[in-house]
Amino acid sequence: MYKYDDYDRNLVLERVKQFRGQTERFLAGDLSEDEFLALRLQNGLYIQRLAPMFRVAIPYGMLSSVQLRNLADLSRTYDKGYVHFTTRQNVQFNWPELKNIPDMLESLHKVEMHAIQTSGNCIRNTTTDQFAGVFKDEVTDPRPYCEIIRQWSTFHPEFAYLPRKFKIAVNACPTEDRAAMKVHDIGLELVKNEHGETGFRVFVGGGLGRTPLLGSAINEFLPELDLLTYLEAIVRVYNQHGRRDNKFKARIKILVKALTPEVFAQKVEEEWQHIKDSAAKLTVEEINRVKGFFVEPSYEDITSSTEFEEQLASNKAFANWVNRNTNEHKIPGYSIVTLTLKKTGIPPGDVSDDKLELIADLADKYSFGEVRIAHDQNIVLADVKQSDLFAVWRKAQTAGFATPNLNMLTDIICCPGGDFCALANAKSIPIAEQIQRRFDNLDYLYDLGEIELNISGCMNACGHHHVGNIGILGVDKKGQEFYQVSLGGCSGKDASIGKILGPSFAREEMADIVEKIIDVYVENRTAEELFLDTYRRIGMTPFKERVYAKAH
Ligand code: HEM
Ligand code: SF4
Repeated sequence: MYKYDDYDRNLVLERVKQFRGQTERFLAGDLSEDEFLALRLQNGLYIQRLAPMFRVAIPYGMLSSVQLRNLADLSRTYDKGYVHFTTRQNVQFNWPELKNIPDMLESLHKVEMHAIQTSGNCIRNTTTDQFAGVFKDEVTDPRPYCEIIRQWSTFHPEFAYLPRKFKIAVNACPTEDRAAMKVHDIGLELVKNEHGETGFRVFVGGGLGRTPLLGSAINEFLPELDLLTYLEAIVRVYNQHGRRDNKFKARIKILVKALTPEVFAQKVEEEWQHIKDSAAKLTVEEINRVKGFFVEPSYEDITSSTEFEEQLASNKAFANWVNRNTNEHKIPGYSIVTLTLKKTGIPPGDVSDDKLELIADLADKYSFGEVRIAHDQNIVLADVKQSDLFAVWRKAQTAGFATPNLNMLTDIICCPGGDFCALANAKSIPIAEQIQRRFDNLDYLYDLGEIELNISGCMNACGHHHVGNIGILGVDKKGQEFYQVSLGGCSGKDASIGKILGPSFAREEMADIVEKIIDVYVENRTAEELFLDTYRRIGMTPFKERVYAKAH
């Protein structure tokens, strides 16, 4: 994990002091709402429906147990005793008081965390695969590159005021994309060329929100040393040509679409020629320096554990969990464990202070004191010895993190919606709960196989509904809450944007509608097909017919 040096520490502390002064002046009436707006956004602070909302960055999703305990402490001292993990490896506090934010920032600074650039029109937290560095199929560990991008983009003087927010995701896995690379402003895919050299396939112009679009590849192999100069060229072209007259057309995706990816790529290439060999060009030494922060933990040499095999054979519930919620680790004898934050009745992504501490204890005892926050709003213990899995499962089960539904229909991604968010058209958390209650039979869920269901409370798509195999979007119909359904979205390797099924539904109908959609899948699937495959083969019509069939 990256460790702050004096430079980082001072930078963050200076920012805390500055923001303390700004907050005091605002509270004393010396700064207007408008004047304070830009200042607070630069520090992760939104003003929401019921209270401020405060967003803290978790670079590439990694937290130490010390940082987790600090978050727990902050939520207990300044909030309602829980935090919310988002789809972009951030953590949000939903109920802080404005006057306490400077103290929260100061406390975060002590554990090497901050809220800089978590909102506003700048380059946001760079995200990656939650299995980075431990997944066996990975080309190379993406985290050092994320850290390099973080250092380059934080306080970049030229990119502090872009036309709109800007998000970068890095994926290094050739078989899967857990970082949703293609729905980011820039998606970077780590690849090796025929000479075994490391580089990036560069996607640009993806994003969700009002106009959902997938990124287009504009460079098939960018050598790793050119990473920052090329990113700089892309963001410069965007900064110069992106629309500032209309907020809804300001994202880079609109520019890429308007110009075409080919023309956009040419402009980037022209810009790049000026800066390609500038001081921003990376060196092997610099990459190695940053890689030095992501050294392998001291894995033990493990021969297979017969005890683990026996536990698997004798306990079906444990075996289910191992099957579902753990993944193969690159080191024999270790597993990647996902603690699912999707227990029915608890909003997806929410964790209470005492549970955060429990996870910190699990991390200390079983996973080298570190956790990762996943894009699907779950928490990962990346390095658990197989012989410890049973103990971890028992503790996770007691705490409610062992629902063995990873990637199943009830592992729902869901935004806070109308319960907290001022922009919402409708609530989303109760919809997630309604669906989780309906599909509470694990055997049936396993039979259905992997299905991604995502819910957003409005067009902004924080819950990624466009890329859910089943997507649910809250809409406003003459002041009433309704829900529109889309099918066929996917955020993985073969990403696609879902298509709208038809007219929207009332809240109480939603579980029934999902059930009808699932029935059509079950009736039509072949033995190997997942929901998405069947949808792609049979198309929308059979689903439409069933859902909108008139009752006789
Ligand atoms: C409650 C406070 C929140 C507010 C006010 C808010 C606001 C917004 C807005 C205005 C957009 C649209 C931006 C655009 O298209 O240009 C957006 C997009 C997004 N937000 Fe949020 N959001 C909130 C919470 C969340 C949460 C809790 C999550 C994760 C669960 C999240 C994740 C995202 C994502 C992934 C996008 C789509 C980004 C894209 O188009 O590339 N946000 N948000
Ligand atoms: S999708 Fe809409 S309702 Fe949900 S968090 Fe984002 S802005 Fe709020």
